[in-house]
Amino acid sequence: MKQEKVKNYYKKDRVVDKYDKKRFLSKGGKFVDSNEKEIVGSLFKEKKNQNILDVGAGTGRFSILLAKQGHNITCLDQSKEMLEILDKKSKQEGLNLSLIKGDALKLPFQDNIFDACVSIRVLWHFKNPEKLLEEMIRVTKKDGIIIFDLLNKKSLRRFFTPVANRFVYTNLMTKEKMKNIINTSGGNIAEEKEYFILPYFIYRHSPKFLVNFLEKAENKLHRTKFKKNSSVIYFKVKK
Ligand SMILES: C[S@@+](CC[C@H](N)C(=O)[O-])C[C@H]1O[C@@H](n2cnc3c(N)ncnc32)[C@H](O)[C@@H]1O
Repeated sequence: MKQEKVKNYYKKDRVVDKYDKKRFLSKGGKFVDSNEKEIVGSLFKEKKNQNILDVGAGTGRFSILLAKQGHNITCLDQSKEMLEILDKKSKQEGLNLSLIKGDALKLPFQDNIFDACVSIRVLWHFKNPEKLLEEMIRVTKKDGIIIFDLLNKKSLRRFFTPVANRFVYTNLMTKEKMKNIINTSGGNIAEEKEYFILPYFIYRHSPKFLVNFLEKAENKLHRTKFKKNSSVIYFKVKK
């Protein structure tokens, strides 16, 4: 039921057409986008020509980033509408990506074929994300890596989730719970990073002058005990 609602949400014109604009084009949105890309880049330092699967690729923020770095990208998403935007954007960039409409819980690939899987802002749409992680581990080669993020239950985000969930379902989880899931799914945590002490939407809705201040506050708070209360936790898992 929850998954059906997520599916319907990413089909709606008002969501799809404004996905990038609403989230990543304001000053605060750019701050969020560039930091997310920097974090994923710092977790994924592999050499060129890796075969990477972007699960829940959406409009292709990470597919395009990684393709520009010289990797071969397969973009999977259940939403034809999101993939159409990705297709348009990648063509504008002169990139040749392989686009597949499919379900992340039933990846249409054989075992052990990708060097890496990346899945950003996706896992938190699942009440039980174990199956998604297992699928990504299954299609990744031995010693390959899987990068994904989760919304931290021990963050400010928990106060806003009931409102956010009126639009689309998001699941919050503790780092400890995710570590257990990773271990039982057969993966090994290689690295983890915490960021965005303030939830994303605060950045994207803040006026320009405030964003400068918030950026500084974010970076300072990361040197304090509040780091563990960041709203997003990024994991790099090794198969
Ligand atoms: C918040 S967007 C993230 C898009 C992109 N990764 C990014 O960071 O901008 C979530 C994406 O996951 C996709 N998605 C959600 N559940 C899925 C499923 N079961 N199978 C495939 N894609 C799914 C949605 O269609 C949507 O494009």
